[in-house]
Amino acid sequence: MTDTTLDDRARAILKGNDRGGYTVPTHGLYPYQWNWDSAFAAWGFSTFDVDRAWTELETLFSAQWGDGMVPHIVFHQASEGYFPGPDVWQTGTTPASSGISQPPVAAILARRIWEADAAAGRDRIAALYPKLLAWHRWWHDYRSRSGAVAITHPWESGRDNCPDWDPGMRNVDGSKVGPYTRRDTGHVDASMRPGKEDYDRYVAMVQFGRACGWDQETIVETGPFLMADPAITFILIRAHRDLAAIGAELGHSVTELESWAGELEAGLATIWNPEIGCYDARDLRTGEFAGILGSGGFLAWLSGAAREGVEETLFAIWDKVAYGIPSSDPGSAHFNPRRYWRGPMWPVVNSLIAMGFAEAGNGAAAERLRRETATLIREHGFYEYFDPVDGTPCGGSDFTWTAAVWLTWAGKEEGA
Ligand code: SER
Repeated sequence: MTDTTLDDRARAILKGNDRGGYTVPTHGLYPYQWNWDSAFAAWGFSTFDVDRAWTELETLFSAQWGDGMVPHIVFHQASEGYFPGPDVWQTGTTPASSGISQPPVAAILARRIWEADAAAGRDRIAALYPKLLAWHRWWHDYRSRSGAVAITHPWESGRDNCPDWDPGMRNVDGSKVGPYTRRDTGHVDASMRPGKEDYDRYVAMVQFGRACGWDQETIVETGPFLMADPAITFILIRAHRDLAAIGAELGHSVTELESWAGELEAGLATIWNPEIGCYDARDLRTGEFAGILGSGGFLAWLSGAAREGVEETLFAIWDKVAYGIPSSDPGSAHFNPRRYWRGPMWPVVNSLIAMGFAEAGNGAAAERLRRETATLIREHGFYEYFDPVDGTPCGGSDFTWTAAVWLTWAGKEEGA
């Protein structure tokens, strides 16, 4: 396929996954609206239908909770094909939604969409701004207490079963969750998905949230899982700054956003693990570091937080694979090149990492990452993720966010 044909195919995927105001990540495996998937979908739509791009974000924020939280899944329509569905979450919201959030990339990408729609987009971004601000306040109030940003469920990180969460997961009791039927393994190869013990614990955490009526105070203070996530910390620092830039352009005072970003920057010291010479996930119940080098750490450049030595440490793991940045170190015992977030390369995460590289002045690394990602998409299509060692396509096909990052980043040849 030529790149022009791939552009057409990517646009067709976005349109084909459109369910009317929102896109599903892929047909079958993920039949609802997912939070960060939608922000990327909006970015992709902005390359050919900017009105539809704004609508995607507006639909997502129509599910915002009263406390500002924007849920990680919005269950717009009933579907038998996904577990755990609204009957399991029981959040009691309209529209029905999950009870946790997902990486706050929306402000980062909304700023780019506005750049592509400078004049006409002003009213759309102005209407979204207070909603984005309320969501960022929620991240500040409920997730940023320890200095870095904490997650209360691995799904909140968007990187579900990456080895970063192993210390926290060990302390979650999944033995009493009762029977349930997974649907994901009916759509894709089970060896590419999290294992049963992971799912038992995921469900136990949902049951805890449900039992306390999704009370955030209770979940943060006494819930089964609380880990600091370097990736979300970097993303939120960057998102606070992008939202501040949007707010300033709209004429708002943004000192609050700037102070939140500054607090998180200071808090990065709490997740610096000198033993691995990098920022690291940390179990906030026990203080234990995960000791994991992976794609989460590579997001440091997105917020301008890379310290000296980090490049050498992290690039060494990139050099161990052929295609893109792996979600964990190929030299570690945890590495599995095809099992979801335990090793595969994800085009969507690589697009954010490349954004950071480019802005930090490392255009060569940004271009290498773009080229390696583009090679996989050209050879295999728009898969959810790929084996970084031999390039095998994994997970769902015709994937919304892979199509989106092709249109916005991976498919853009230098100088084209
Ligand atoms: N990624 C999760 C799943 O696979 C949910 O966010 O279902």
